[in-house]
Amino acid sequence: MTERAPVPVTLGPRPKPTGSDTDDPRLVDRFGRVHRDLRISITDRCNLRCVYCMPEEGVVFAPRSKNLTYEELTRIARVARDLGVSRVRITGGEPLVRRGVESFVESLAALGFDDVSMTTNGIGLERRAKGLADAGLQRVNISCDSLRPERFPTIRRRGQLAPVLAAMDAAERAGLAPLKVNVVVVAGINDDEIADFAGFARSTGRIVRFIEYMPLDGAGRWDRASVVSADHIVETIAERWPLESVVPTDADPSAPATRYRFTDGVGEIGVIPTVTKPFCGTCDRLRVTADGAIRNCLFANEETPLRELIRGGAGDEQIALALRRAVNAKLPGHGINDPGFLRPARSMSMIGG
Ligand code: 5AD
Ligand code: SF4
Repeated sequence: MTERAPVPVTLGPRPKPTGSDTDDPRLVDRFGRVHRDLRISITDRCNLRCVYCMPEEGVVFAPRSKNLTYEELTRIARVARDLGVSRVRITGGEPLVRRGVESFVESLAALGFDDVSMTTNGIGLERRAKGLADAGLQRVNISCDSLRPERFPTIRRRGQLAPVLAAMDAAERAGLAPLKVNVVVVAGINDDEIADFAGFARSTGRIVRFIEYMPLDGAGRWDRASVVSADHIVETIAERWPLESVVPTDADPSAPATRYRFTDGVGEIGVIPTVTKPFCGTCDRLRVTADGAIRNCLFANEETPLRELIRGGAGDEQIALALRRAVNAKLPGHGINDPGFLRPARSMSMIGG
């Protein structure tokens, strides 16, 4: 009979636990990723119907009573801040279609985040940029997928190019800078404008970010053949103007965009290679949907509902625990390229970018 090994007695510090058991006040997941970026969607509604995002007709929006109030969202943001979140971004749908977003910006700004930004389609922003900046908004990302006035409405189905360009000017005048312009590149739709957009980045100083088309469109039409790869985008631009990588000086390894500048020093672009070169390993993002669900990934099939918890009188520590649990459940990657990949039930406008 062999003698049983003695149970080891740990004398040193306890091995570092992970996730929801941790003593670490920050939102650290099982893979060591520290979550510092919170995306708050305030509505699933939108005044446009971009082909890569929403179906043309028959979109069913959540009843407004299901949406968290600005007070409830601000509370989540405060709890997240106390867990180490330092950047917040307001998203939609289209955030500017929800009334009173300026007051929400003010509440978020008062919480003392390093960065308060918004992703918008720019409709109506021309006259609201100043008010948003005064309320404490620091930056905006404006979506714009074509520089051709006749093509723009075919991609976005509603809306025109001119007001979006005017919104960009107004945003800069209001100090919402640096201005980023989001371009979702879809094969056969706008991939012939890659070099034009690079030229636009050069002539305006705006950071154009080319986003790979992701399987999050409401109509479920996404297929691999429609994806224009980040490599192709960079090669197309480099044929016209030489590019070099930008190594971020602010040491933010979690930024999703791979950055490039033109070697003559005029302008910068970024590519977001979600599909062909996933960057999940450095993801620090967490999302709250307008109807109050925490999502640990754009592509997650599970989410943590917060609305009933909050409306049932939960204390801050329960909200904190729910955020921790959501982060702890985060998978190592989105799995788009796995054979068994299952699209999430929510499309982009129901999550927030
Ligand atoms: N793939 C990639 N980007 C998308 N967006 C919306 N739908 C998709 C998609 N299917 C982008 C918008 C906006 C941000 C919120 O997400 O253009 O920039
Ligand atoms: Fe609206 Fe933005 Fe979706 Fe276009 S991408 S339909 S602007 S939410």
